[in-house]
Amino acid sequence: MREPGPARRSLRELLLLCYRERDAERLRVSRLLHDEIGQVLSAVGLHLDVLRQEVRDRAPEIVGRTAEIQSILEGAVRQVRRLSYELRPEPVERAGLGVALRQLADRYRPSFAGRLSVACPNPAPLPPAVALAFFRIAEQALDNAVRHSGAARIGLRLRTGKRRTSLEIRDNGSGFDVARTRRRVRGLGLLLMASYADDAGLDFTLTSLPKRTTIVWVVYRAGARPAESDNGGGDKL
Ligand SMILES: Nc1ncnc2c1ncn2[C@@H]1O[C@H](COP(=O)(O)OP(=O)(O)O)[C@@H](O)[C@H]1O
Ligand SMILES: [Mg+2]
Repeated sequence: MREPGPARRSLRELLLLCYRERDAERLRVSRLLHDEIGQVLSAVGLHLDVLRQEVRDRAPEIVGRTAEIQSILEGAVRQVRRLSYELRPEPVERAGLGVALRQLADRYRPSFAGRLSVACPNPAPLPPAVALAFFRIAEQALDNAVRHSGAARIGLRLRTGKRRTSLEIRDNGSGFDVARTRRRVRGLGLLLMASYADDAGLDFTLTSLPKRTTIVWVVYRAGARPAESDNGGGDKL
């Protein structure tokens, strides 16, 4: 297969950057809406409450007006909350990593004919960026296993301890030539997984044995930049 030229390769890198920047921007805007704008609107509502109490006897006509303003304000608060929620589609922050991974698997079950097993207890508390990286890697790995592997079985397993948490997504499908695929220009999934892991300081290994299996393995070690891992054999990313 012909190697992509530098221009195409940098186009892919640019795409990856855009993708990551979009993720970060959505999170920023979502937090801004929730933490700042939402708080300000709620504070205005409280002031209106106080004002209504104060003018109740002296200026009853104002009481009606403040109630109108308050209902407009409540509508705005609801919209801000909804927007903030929609901009943060990952359920990780809301429900925790274990629940989020189980929901992710549920999402894929209807489109997967084989057996999709999930062993994901809620892990010991993880830094939010680490939990999010685990989830995003699982999304890409599961999507690949379902769409590309032709496997009869896919397993998602989270192992959790005090100092170490690991996530494995394994299928018994076609496998693929990782090094060759990496050089191709097409998808972004493999690059995204490595980049999510790198940003969160996770140890990331993708091992694939043609006609047998693909295993994505991610490890977080509390308090230490993870060391290189060795899964033995196979093609690694
Ligand atoms: N679990 C898997 N089983 C078989 N092939 C895979 C698997 N994961 C990835 N691949 C191969 O690697 C390629 C690149 O994956 P990815 O970068 O996620 O891009 P995309 O999914 O958009 O094709 C896939 O098109 C597929 O050929
Ligand atoms: Mg993919």
